[in-house]
Amino acid sequence: MTLVAILSLLIMIFLLILFFVIWFWINLSNKSPYYPSIVKKIQSLVDDKEISISANTKFVDLGSGDGRVVFYFAKLNILQADGIEINPFLSLLSRFLKTVLRLKNVKIYNKDFLKHDLGCYNLVYMFLIDNQIDKLLEKIKQEKKNSEVIVISNTFQSSKFLPYKKVDTFYFYKI
Ligand SMILES: C[S@@+](CC[C@H](N)C(=O)[O-])C[C@H]1O[C@@H](n2cnc3c(N)ncnc32)[C@H](O)[C@@H]1O
Repeated sequence: MTLVAILSLLIMIFLLILFFVIWFWINLSNKSPYYPSIVKKIQSLVDDKEISISANTKFVDLGSGDGRVVFYFAKLNILQADGIEINPFLSLLSRFLKTVLRLKNVKIYNKDFLKHDLGCYNLVYMFLIDNQIDKLLEKIKQEKKNSEVIVISNTFQSSKFLPYKKVDTFYFYKI
């Protein structure tokens, strides 16, 4: 092995370790670490008309991970499908996938969802643990415009708001 090859290998190992250190640091400092939804389960909800979609639907996934749920809804030809993700690697990945999939109605924001105005959305999805749900439901209630907002929380439920239905692992709220 030449010196250049050894150096390249060492640099690659260093970058790989750096990536994992940053990844774990971001996830540990997050209240809700990354764990993807099973899109087939969401698709069943839409197929069974548990979630109603129209051309005017403005959807957002709060903590959108790699964007899989956002892309699923965007492909249903709704007006807008947004994702808000605090992890810069996941935001970058989902922006890349958005470009590859050529989805025009998608926007991915790399930010804290608590700093994003949620007033324009009428369909909200989240897969987040503990008290983040209550904070977000309060925020949606304050920021929403006149129309009703449907919020779907995967697995975790609010301790303040009552769901109007539960299907599979999904809690549905009307705000
Ligand atoms: C359990 S994962 C769900 C990912 C995606 N929604 C899905 O269902 O496949 C939760 C995501 O929320 C993100 N997250 C946690 N706190 C956040 C915050 N304050 N602002 C934006 N994203 C956040 C995490 O980085 C993680 O990617």
